Amino acid sequence: MKFVAFTYPGLESILKSELEQRKIEVNKVEDGLITFSGDTSTLVKTNLWLRTASKVYVLLWEHQNITDFNTLFDVIYSINWQDFIPKWYQIVINPGSIRSTLTATPTIQAISQKAIIKKISWDKHYDVEEWKKVEIRINLFKNTLKIMLNTTWESLYKRWYKVWTSPAQLKETLAAGIILLSKAKNKICYDPFCGSGTILIEKAMIDLHIAPGLFRNFAFENFDWVDKNNLEKEKWRAKTRQKEKNLEFIGTDIDSHILEIAQNNAISAGVDKYIKFYKEDFSKAKPKKDCDIITNPPYNKRLKIDNIENIYNKLNNELVQDSVHGGIITWYDEFKHSVDNKLKMRVFTNWWEKVKFYWR
Ligand SMILES: C[S@@+](CC[C@H](N)C(=O)[O-])C[C@H]1O[C@@H](n2cnc3c(N)ncnc32)[C@H](O)[C@@H]1O
Repeated sequence: MKFVAFTYPGLESILKSELEQRKIEVNKVEDGLITFSGDTSTLVKTNLWLRTASKVYVLLWEHQNITDFNTLFDVIYSINWQDFIPKWYQIVINPGSIRSTLTATPTIQAISQKAIIKKISWDKHYDVEEWKKVEIRINLFKNTLKIMLNTTWESLYKRWYKVWTSPAQLKETLAAGIILLSKAKNKICYDPFCGSGTILIEKAMIDLHIAPGLFRNFAFENFDWVDKNNLEKEKWRAKTRQKEKNLEFIGTDIDSHILEIAQNNAISAGVDKYIKFYKEDFSKAKPKKDCDIITNPPYNKRLKIDNIENIYNKLNNELVQDSVHGGIITWYDEFKHSVDNKLKMRVFTNWWEKVKFYWR
């Protein structure tokens, strides 16, 4: 079987090495997605373990030169949908078209829906529970059609431990990606703008080998062609692989309420004994020696701060010490003026905003 995992454009190399570490055969790397091969146990493993993928799909069909709606209909109709979709589940079509002849996504959606419903012979159902929906992605890129079945359902950034989410937070998948991209390896890691604790919690989960999907549900659990025992076995194996390590992480923030949330998130992720959270204003904090820094400071957009320049200069000075590794993810454009040339930079999108990650 072929599968496709989506990720942030810019994190493909990280996702590729996550797959290769699990001895999974990678077939193709494209912008924001990777195609790989395996069987249903690969599907279970990847949903449970991938830290930087947003969703994992079964690639049901891929072909070049799809340029007319009749061919699109015939191709979709030719798939044995009854073998993949549980009876009476609602089908949600997610169409996409980039640089292709067929551009009208509402028409692509309507034709795809019609072809599938004709084949499966049960009709659209409305008002079904969320878990009784199946997402099918129909992507055209330069006239190459990919037909994909979502095995994850809600994006993998939804770990189980978050008690509260807000757009000022980093998505967990992006946080894991920048941690893996940075060279932060010291046992002490510091996030001076920790907010809800995403970065340090993700870093502790990476260092302790805690599977990011351990306590969440997946769409494939409703598919009868995926053996349920496989997931139970993988979860059991994942629990036996968790490590104890001597980690001393420090998370500080100026806001006591958010620190309480961070503490609760760390408790529900099972990593609270490794992270000390406390209130501190970074502009007045003494430099912390010999510890890695990974942080997501405020950037005067949603969260206004007065002394922003001082804060960024101070961060830059701490990050360029020889013994320190890590990075800063920010939208604050003026930061580029104080950035030392020791730092590398890559652009990502967090929620709907462009952010830059500077690291070493
Ligand atoms: C962009 S948010 C960090 C979000 C975090 N990465 C997460 O995923 O929840 C920036 C944080 O910086 C904190 N902050 C603002 N000014 C600060 C200061 N001078 N010292 C320490 N923390 C500050 C805010 O309270 C906020 O929680």
